[in-house]
Amino acid sequence: MPAYLETAVEIAREAGALLATFFERHVPFETKGENDLVTEADRASERLIVERLRTHFPSHAIVAEEGGGHESASGYRWYVDPLDGTTNFAHSFPMFNVTLALEAEGELVAGVIFDPIKNELFTTERGAGSYLNNRRIRVSQTRKLTDALVATGFPSRKRHLNINIHFYHQLGMQTHGVRRCGSAAIDLAYVACGRLEAFWEFGLNPWDMAAGVLLIEEAGGKCSGMHGEPHRLRGPDLVADNGLIHEEIVGLFEEIFSGRYRVPMPAIAG
Ligand code: IPD
Ligand code: CA
Ligand code: CA
Repeated sequence: MPAYLETAVEIAREAGALLATFFERHVPFETKGENDLVTEADRASERLIVERLRTHFPSHAIVAEEGGGHESASGYRWYVDPLDGTTNFAHSFPMFNVTLALEAEGELVAGVIFDPIKNELFTTERGAGSYLNNRRIRVSQTRKLTDALVATGFPSRKRHLNINIHFYHQLGMQTHGVRRCGSAAIDLAYVACGRLEAFWEFGLNPWDMAAGVLLIEEAGGKCSGMHGEPHRLRGPDLVADNGLIHEEIVGLFEEIFSGRYRVPMPAIAG
């Protein structure tokens, strides 16, 4: 394969350094919808990434969150999240990343997630494994959900319609805990390197998850829809885990989808 991954790494590092300079300056935020934040840093990072990709791969299509993409009939498509974790970023909460992934003829082939605060670079290529700062990573070996640390996220858009609070409560009661980091690509990267056993979320976009899904699969984990169906980049929901707890977590989700709760919500004493 041509040097797709090397180029993506170079671009992600450059964009990450740009995000870090904006982060130090505390840029103001705007809203693109109710509670859906965007900053000058999102736009500047996207401009840089799209410009670089177009220079290196002029025939490739680009799907980028802030709309700076480019259509093409080529079988190659880049998914770009120029700043994943904008709400954290806008509040000076140091958990965000830049992520890029390449799809070739409908199959994910390479991905990068770069956290410029921790200087952690997660990389993967189909068939070649996953790496954190050039060291091979693997998913955790935890076999039971009761021994797992898991994570989830809540979308900014239409959050009043999101049913995830039911899942959050049940998983919170039946694991070591649920983290809500505010950056889906970092959550996925942490599953790939064994810091978390599982992550799930409703309503993610392809650019949030493309690199992370390949990273997890190449690290020995499993990704699917929350009913256990094959994973789709444009699917309504995602569960990504170490593979060993996959059946158990999908089974628990099935109970919650059907309204059966093992642990009822506590009553508020009146
Ligand atoms: C968001 C983050 C967050 C997740 C949201 C995403 P953005 O991405 O990944 O963790 O819960 O669903 O939209 O908007 O910061 O790029
Ligand atoms: Ca995102
Ligand atoms: Ca984003």
